[in-house]
Formats: sequence, structure tokens, C-alpha cells
Amino acid sequence: MTHSILCVVGARPNFVKVAPVVHALERLHNVDVRVVNTGQHYDRALAGSFIEHLGMRAPDHDLGVGSGTHARQTAAVLVGIEDLLVELRPDAVVVAGDVNSTVGAALAAAKLDVAIAHLESGLRSRDWSMPEEINRVITDRISDLLLCHCEEAVENLAAEGIAGEKVVVVGNTMIDSLFRLLPVARAGDALARHGLRPGAYVLVTLHRPALVDDPARLGAALDVLAGLTDRLPVVFPMHPRTRAKAGAVATEALERLTVIEPLEYLDFIALESAARVVVTDSGGVQEETSALGIPCLTYRDNTERAITCELGTNHLVGVDPAELARAAKQELERPLTATRPLPLWDGHAGERAANAILELVLRREQASRRSVA
Ligand code: UD1
Ligand code: UDP
Repeated sequence: MTHSILCVVGARPNFVKVAPVVHALERLHNVDVRVVNTGQHYDRALAGSFIEHLGMRAPDHDLGVGSGTHARQTAAVLVGIEDLLVELRPDAVVVAGDVNSTVGAALAAAKLDVAIAHLESGLRSRDWSMPEEINRVITDRISDLLLCHCEEAVENLAAEGIAGEKVVVVGNTMIDSLFRLLPVARAGDALARHGLRPGAYVLVTLHRPALVDDPARLGAALDVLAGLTDRLPVVFPMHPRTRAKAGAVATEALERLTVIEPLEYLDFIALESAARVVVTDSGGVQEETSALGIPCLTYRDNTERAITCELGTNHLVGVDPAELARAAKQELERPLTATRPLPLWDGHAGERAANAILELVLRREQASRRSVA
């Protein structure tokens, strides 16, 4: 008997998290795996290049959802995934992370009684102004399998009454992709193409609405980053949301920064792995820098990835330009320290996730046979 599993991707971090699970599912017997791309992100640098670099199968279905308000984008995912689920009737749907595609796909599946596996479950910032927090909590509440990347996520779920055999710690699949492709990335010439020397530049990614949609906050952050160029070049692959706002707030600062287009995955991890310091508000970048042992300054008031501060290289700065300047100065003057590997961030999380997903499907099939008998 063949078990059919539909994996949902759509926004940049989804591809990185889901690819190892797709690969592992494809290696299992009697599993028919399909990929649907919602199209939440559509520029090559945010979507198509990831499928290529990660060696993922071309999506079997494209919904072409594109950009829009939260309601419009989520609703388009909901409708598109519902149509597909009615047509395909898969045994399970795999969703990842906390983007609008995640919650839209999960809602469609829940209403059709299709089993949902949520990858990167249980993270909590406790900041309800973040769209991602809403997406995470709703997705976790309606999922049948909660795949966690650390024990802290299990505790967060338990505090909300979600526990038992449906919660499984599998580790971090984003780190599977990183470890698999880092040698390929390093063998390329990304640093040379960008005129950079290893350990001699600051890498920046900022795209969270709370920061970039507020002109005063964004301008102040760019001024601090421009100040760092007295010491080292500051390279800023700029997310389109940030680019749309930055021009109006800080022309002088922008001239001092090396602002470039969002980087394709292999180039980005090459630059990330050789940076002196990374400044970010990205979730995934907090994790990758911890796995790589690269110092990371997170320019946010909270993080759902506390484990990266406890066991990794992440330092939560808060949204205070003076504190960012102080922390960056301190970090640039401090020698690099050795880091410990994080538990189960070992390059094999995708396989553990795939096994857990298959077990979920088998459990559901057994239960439905029992109820018919
Ligand atoms: C989304 C996620 C966020 C994630 C980020 C990863 C939600 C609510 N947010 O934020 O959690 O960290 O992706 O990068 O799901 N745009 C382009 N080209 C594209 C895609 C978007 O130019 O290919 C522009 C559009 O103007 C769009 C804006 O970027 O309106 C924002 O895109 P959207 O997908 O709505 O949210 P992100 O900020 O990317
Ligand atoms: N990333 C990339 N190019 C960039 C910035 C980020 O390839 O210019 C990768 C990064 O290595 C990580 C993922 O994108 O794997 C993180 O996605 P993002 O920061 O957009 O989303 P978040 O993790 O904040 O949801």
C-alpha cells in the first residue's frame, strides 16, 4: 500500500526546512511524496534558486499565490490547498515554520481531516504583534504531529496542553541543509565575487515588519550599521520588504553599506559561515549562526529561538540603536570562542522527521481500519 504525503513550501525559509524531509521521504518505501509551492515568494532569489540549490524536486503543483495582505495571502493559500487536497486526498500534509503559507495549508487540511505534520513546532516568542506567532500557535493547535527542534519547544507545547506521542523532537532540518551544502558553498567563489575576506566583514539581514515598516527604527538601525563600516565592510543582502522602505529613511547610511540583492542560498551560507559578526532579525539566521559558531546579534526585543542564546552564539540585543552599537563594538573586539553542537542539530533531522511522519500515517490507517471493523 502506498502512502501519499504532500509537502507545502512557499516562502524562503520553507525550502531550506522542507528539502531534507522531502529527500528523506523519497528514500522510504511505499511513500508517494509530492511538493506544492504556494508561491508566497516568487522572485528567483527568494524561491526558485532555493529549489535548485537544495536539489529539491520541481514542485508538482504551483498555486501562484504571490504577495498581498495577510488575509488575502492566507485565504489564497487556504483555497488553493483545499482544491488540491480534495483532488489528491493525501494521507498527510507537511507544513513548516510560521509563515502565512503554513497556517493557510494547515487550516485547509484540518477542515478536510487530512493529517497535519508541523515541522519546527513549539517555538514561541510570546509576542502577539508578530504575524508569525499567530501562525505558529494556530498551526500547532490543529496539527496531528508536532515535530520539534529542541526540548524547549516541547515545554512550550506542554504549557498549552499539547503533549503525548504526537510531540516528537527530531532536531533542526534547516541545519541538515546547511551542513549538507556548506562544503559546496565554500568551494565556490562567493566571497571573492563580493570582494570580501574571511572574518573581515559584518553580514546583515533585517526584514521583520516591526523594524523595517517603522521609518524611525529602520533609519536608526541603518545609521548604527553605517557606523560599523569605520572598522569593517558591512554587507547587507536586502529583503524586498526592507528595500521598499530603506531608500526613504537613510540615504547617507545606505551609501556606506554594501547593499546587495537577497542572496541565493549557496552564496548566503558561504558569506554567513565566514562573517566576523552577523546582525539579524531572521529566525533561521539565528539558528544557522549558532550551528556555524559565528557570533550573531539579534536586533529584536524577543526571540522564539532562546536555545540559540543559551547554547549557541546568539545575543539578543533588543531594539535599541545604542545597544546595537555597543554590542557590535564588544563583539568585534572579542576573540572568537569555541561553541558546542546543539542537541540533534546534527544533519539527520530530516530522516527522523520522515520516519515520524510515516508512523503518523500508519497510526491513522490502523485507527481507521479499527473503526470500520
Ligand atoms: C515572510 C514571512 C516571514 C518570513 C519571511 C521570509 C509571513 C507572515 N511572513 O515575510 O515570517 O520571515 O517571509 O523571508 O508569512 N516580495 C517581493 N518578491 C517576492 C516576495 C515578496 O518583492 O518574491 C515583496 C512584496 O512587496 C511583498 C513583500 O516583499 O509584499 C513581503 O512579502 P511577504 O511574503 O508578504 O512577507 P515577508 O516580509 O517576505
Ligand atoms: N537566506 C538566504 N539569502 C539571504 C538571506 C537569507 O539564502 O539573502 C537564507 C538563510 O540562510 C536561511 C533562510 O534564508 O536559510 C532564512 O530565511 P529568512 O531570514 O527569510 O526567514 P526567517 O527565518 O526569518 O523566517
